[in-house]
Amino acid sequence: MKVKIHSLFEYLLETTTAAPEALVGLSISASPVLGDFLNDLDPALPLDWNGRDFRGLPELRGHVLRQAGLQTSCRLEDVLITAGAAEANYLALRQLLSPGDRIVLESPGWPQAKVIAKAIGVEVVRVARHEAEGWRLPLDRLADAATPGTRMIFITNPNNPTGDLLTAAEIADLVAIAERVGAWLLVDEVYAGLEWQGPRAPSVAGLYGRGITTGSVSKGLGLQGLRTGWMICPDPEMIMDAVILRENSSEIMNIMGETIAEIALRPDRYAAVMAKARAEGAANLAMINDWIARQPGLSWVSPKAGLIGLARLPDGIDSGAFARALLQDPYRTFLLPGEAYDQPGHIRLGVGGGGAVQLEKGLERLAAALATGVGRLA
Ligand SMILES: Cc1ncc(COP(=O)(O)O)c(C=O)c1O
Repeated sequence: MKVKIHSLFEYLLETTTAAPEALVGLSISASPVLGDFLNDLDPALPLDWNGRDFRGLPELRGHVLRQAGLQTSCRLEDVLITAGAAEANYLALRQLLSPGDRIVLESPGWPQAKVIAKAIGVEVVRVARHEAEGWRLPLDRLADAATPGTRMIFITNPNNPTGDLLTAAEIADLVAIAERVGAWLLVDEVYAGLEWQGPRAPSVAGLYGRGITTGSVSKGLGLQGLRTGWMICPDPEMIMDAVILRENSSEIMNIMGETIAEIALRPDRYAAVMAKARAEGAANLAMINDWIARQPGLSWVSPKAGLIGLARLPDGIDSGAFARALLQDPYRTFLLPGEAYDQPGHIRLGVGGGGAVQLEKGLERLAAALATGVGRLA
């Protein structure tokens, strides 16, 4: 069956040309420019493929393991460089799942696993994260959902869109749940390294033979346009299956993505850039928390990690109508309505984007729209 559109992408397509003056809820850190890398780029670099390894540049794979704290528990061969975390997730989903299998997912969550699983003909079991429980992943309900025969559990940690973060003990419980039923456990870590409360969680690729960790340079480093990410898995057959599928789609990594990502992930540079991203994110988060406290009827569970969270609108406001009206004059401000995540009555707020997104201006306009009853149901 063909892959169907999900509502988040539908909204992005609908609003691509809206040209907002402010963005609230951008989900990536401020993006560097090419000039930031010129001193470290070799003008004689051949623009052929890397010519060394189908899994990706070995130095880059080394950095990937180091930033995840996996340099002693995983090997370079366990890392495959991909076109973003999106491709890593796709390769794993497509190669591991067959029609009639069962996958356990979180809701709300990143929509990719659901649409791909449905297209394959997989039974999708959704485990709800509830706002009243602080959007925590309910491990007891997840354990009940992961019945024998479950082929995969797919989780985002930090969670997109709520910013919830699992502890090391919860990751261990998750591994035990997967292990009990022999399921693959894919944890998408694109937001890792941006923790506001608590430490970065351990990566499952270092804990479980069927653990798959995916990530990328898109979020904390703001390098989304490089299309460079990774899959880490200690199972050689999984990595080879992913290489084989990739050979039949994009074939190889793009050399500029690999080369610039290798520079960006060099330990000293990575530490400095992430420290800046964390400082900017933390300052914006403090500003949003203060702002929300001043908005009658608006509330949220402040994200523990990552660049986004879901805020609950005052009763009686339609989030889709609200977001669409906010894009128009006099507000000209973009945000994602909660319906993009099956969470009507919510909007996605976020702390990414640096100065270019005009967050403060966006919040002022959002406050003005809320005060005048924009999006209120008749
Ligand atoms: C949870 C999650 N996974 C994967 C992706 C895709 O990211 P990438 O640019 O690394 O492909 C995103 C992008 O928003 C995301 O939020």
